[in-house]
Amino acid sequence: MAALDQLISIKDLTPASVHEVLLGAKLFSKNIHSPLLSNQTIALLFFENSTRTKISFELAIKKLSGSSVYFSSSGSSMSKGETVLDTTQTIRAMGVNGFIVRHQTAGVPLSIKLSLNLPVINAGDGTHEHPTQALLDIFTLIEHFKDIKNKKILILGDTNQRVARSNIKLLKMLGAEVILCGPHTLINKNFLSLGVKIETDLDQIIGSVDAIMALRIQTERQNSMQIPNVNEFRKFWGVTASRLKSIKKDTVILHPGPTNWGVELDYEVSDDSRSLISKQVQNGLFVRMSVLSKIFNPNGFKDFLENKGKQL
Ligand code: NCD
Repeated sequence: MAALDQLISIKDLTPASVHEVLLGAKLFSKNIHSPLLSNQTIALLFFENSTRTKISFELAIKKLSGSSVYFSSSGSSMSKGETVLDTTQTIRAMGVNGFIVRHQTAGVPLSIKLSLNLPVINAGDGTHEHPTQALLDIFTLIEHFKDIKNKKILILGDTNQRVARSNIKLLKMLGAEVILCGPHTLINKNFLSLGVKIETDLDQIIGSVDAIMALRIQTERQNSMQIPNVNEFRKFWGVTASRLKSIKKDTVILHPGPTNWGVELDYEVSDDSRSLISKQVQNGLFVRMSVLSKIFNPNGFKDFLENKGKQL
């Protein structure tokens, strides 16, 4: 098992390491456990708001018998001018074993890794990447479909963001077909080089895809409003109650959350049996337990997979 001491981008993973993470997550989801993080203290550094990612990392560490310290920039010495690197060096001096970092600027988790040489997991950096979100999305899709090779996955809405970039890389690595759909202003044409297709007319394709991954309109990252208004967005690119009728019976719907209900998705989607949104939240815990084990206790994780994998 190759050592993994950072998860900054999907580029840090190979198909074999993805397979191990997914197998570990499957074991954790079946309540097969091991205290793989005992003696480890991990610092959670959140410079940007979060509910799902933060809580699931914290809970994952706890379930693996590790301990965590939580840092939020508000209320810290950053208001006195302390920099990100000073802050991380200070926390490192207290003896933590690694960092989980969310920051509004792309590249911050990598600079922390380069300056401290301790394991770092990227919990979302600007518009760059959010690798554990992509892993939990793919785990959820595989749990549903068994295999996602050649499945048609539609990434919908604000596709110029970190969840899209990490998902595109991971879906392509695993052989899925990826289509991006949304307004021109929210489509990153550079993603064409990753092998995606781009479509602007949702009604042309919605009936033919296997999964719809709707993404939140990230107004906090737009310099000016990149869509005329949210009602218009919903009209053209929302998964509305009426569009639900044109989706195949076995097409599933995902959203990383938080959802702008009535914009990206109509409320009806939350009651639809094809929605996997709460599964995504549940699986986030198992996938993060697996990633943490692989990074912070590679030998223990290897033994765990070998011994407990037989129980599946
Ligand atoms: C995503 C994020 O923060 O990038 N959410 C999440 O991690 N659950 C997507 C988003 O905020 O739109």
